[in-house]
Amino acid sequence: MDPVTLETDRLILRAFAAVDVDAVYDACQDQDIQFYTPAPVPYRREDAEKSVCEDWPEGWATDKNYTLGAFRKGSEALVGSYCLTRISQGVLELGYWAVREQRGQGFSVEAARALCDWGWATLDVHRIEWWAMVGNTGSRAVAEKLGFTVEGTLRQRSVANDGKPHDWWVGGLLRP
Ligand SMILES: CC(C)(COP(=O)(O)OP(=O)(O)OC[C@H]1O[C@@H](n2cnc3c(N)ncnc32)[C@H](O)[C@@H]1OP(=O)(O)O)[C@@H](O)C(=O)NCCC(=O)NCCS
Repeated sequence: MDPVTLETDRLILRAFAAVDVDAVYDACQDQDIQFYTPAPVPYRREDAEKSVCEDWPEGWATDKNYTLGAFRKGSEALVGSYCLTRISQGVLELGYWAVREQRGQGFSVEAARALCDWGWATLDVHRIEWWAMVGNTGSRAVAEKLGFTVEGTLRQRSVANDGKPHDWWVGGLLRP
């Protein structure tokens, strides 16, 4: 489908465009984004270009994932990236990262809530999942504010970029 644009009190959520490559590149130099998300390490400008110009548009075009950038109304500064990915029939996974300087202001909850609301209204899905490495308390706080129930811990689910296996939390949100 074609990307949508969403609006919240403080944010515009829209598809990323070539003009955003530098902002994505800068944001993804952050150590937490590189540790807690699948962002490549080191994160090069070509990685930002590929995501913005190829992978994210293709996600929308093929209905596999729906990535939106959140931007502050007024300054249009990038706040973060928010994505719903189809992982099985009727099930989406929510993923997000926020620009370090924009954190701690409730923007991720605001953006992710708008994206989930859009998902419920538009897509034939019954469950949204959230996954995070154990210890990622920021991600967990966002998920819990959104109403996710933390359902369990998977022991040593995957190897992170420190080369060690890590436990993961999994949570779920059912169609309201
Ligand atoms: C996780 C992340 C997206 C949170 O973004 P954010 O914009 O700061 O989140 P919000 O401002 O919407 O915060 C929502 C709540 O979470 C809390 N929170 C945010 N970061 C926190 C942290 N590190 N530890 C504890 N609580 C935290 C906030 O205090 C807020 O609760 P409050 O309203 O009661 O104060 C951001 O820290 C980030 O990008 N981390 C690196 C990438 C990442 O881990 N992505 C998730 C992968 S699963």
